[in-house]
Amino acid sequence: MTTATGARRYDGENRHTMPDDRYLGVVDTFLVTGKVALVTGAGDGIGQETALVLAAAGAHVIATDVDDDGLRNTLVLAGERGISITTRRLDITDPAEIADTVEHVVAEHDRLDILVNAAGVMIMRDALEVTPEELDRVLRINVGGTFFACQAAARVMTTGASIVNLSSSIQDRSSPGRITYAISKGGVAQLTRTLALELGPAGIRVNAIAPGWVETGMTRQHWTHTDGSIDAAARESYLATMASASPLSRVGTTRDIALSVLQLASDAGAFITGQVVRVNGGSFMA
Ligand SMILES: NC(=O)c1ccc[n+]([C@@H]2O[C@H](COP(=O)([O-])OP(=O)(O)OC[C@H]3O[C@@H](n4cnc5c(N)ncnc54)[C@H](O)[C@@H]3O)[C@@H](O)[C@H]2O)c1
Repeated sequence: MTTATGARRYDGENRHTMPDDRYLGVVDTFLVTGKVALVTGAGDGIGQETALVLAAAGAHVIATDVDDDGLRNTLVLAGERGISITTRRLDITDPAEIADTVEHVVAEHDRLDILVNAAGVMIMRDALEVTPEELDRVLRINVGGTFFACQAAARVMTTGASIVNLSSSIQDRSSPGRITYAISKGGVAQLTRTLALELGPAGIRVNAIAPGWVETGMTRQHWTHTDGSIDAAARESYLATMASASPLSRVGTTRDIALSVLQLASDAGAFITGQVVRVNGGSFMA
């Protein structure tokens, strides 16, 4: 495309005939070519898609999860998309295991540029029924695991590195029956802000994403029976309710969230830190 002033603009078709790389440079800013990325919770849902998107955008990705089957599936998906990825079992409730994993990544790749904390759990229980064990489990995974992964990563990261945590829309607007989850995701938002302050001087950015509703293993529990069978009508009704909360009239996808992680992880997010970015289709506006 040629404008009235004679300047050429990128229109998606003439990329090979552009006079210089100014416009392609913009696209390149969103790439993470050669960066080393560690992703937790990468055996399913948002973490899995994020690992695949980061790899597709050029990163060396170490996809971790406590679920071996999930990781095997992530490898299959990577193969189907023609991208290469490494997997490693990691239970984020064990700070020593996290530290070992980070040490291993640095030994293999000499650096760690990106950490995405996507591992998380949700327990459905009314406040008056919650047991100490349930609260402990959710906080140990969602808050403790996220925090100790940030700590281990930040100890080896250098300027330009980026950490992306997964909070949730629930940090803005709670709903009944999820109190342990709500407490934990508020905690993730707060640890993100505090770490951004402490790590900013070292050139390390720390952000969180607060996704709106996305269909994943976590949310499927709403219509999955204990024997694993699906209540299709309940699923349809649940999705319709969730979609109606958004002015876009749809629920989110794992890809929607992964692409926002990519922006925060790449140099395109170079001036974004300490933020909890709402990727929720407008279902909540601050
Ligand atoms: N799906 C949504 O609607 C939604 C909305 C807001 C926020 N989130 C957040 O996004 C993140 C990803 O959620 P998802 O929907 O993809 O869930 P998911 O259940 O599909 O995936 C979570 C992954 O975390 C892993 N995991 C759980 N405990 C672990 C542990 N101790 N160590 C390592 N891995 C562990 C699981 O094995 C699983 O593969 C979570 O933090 C979740 O709270 C999800």
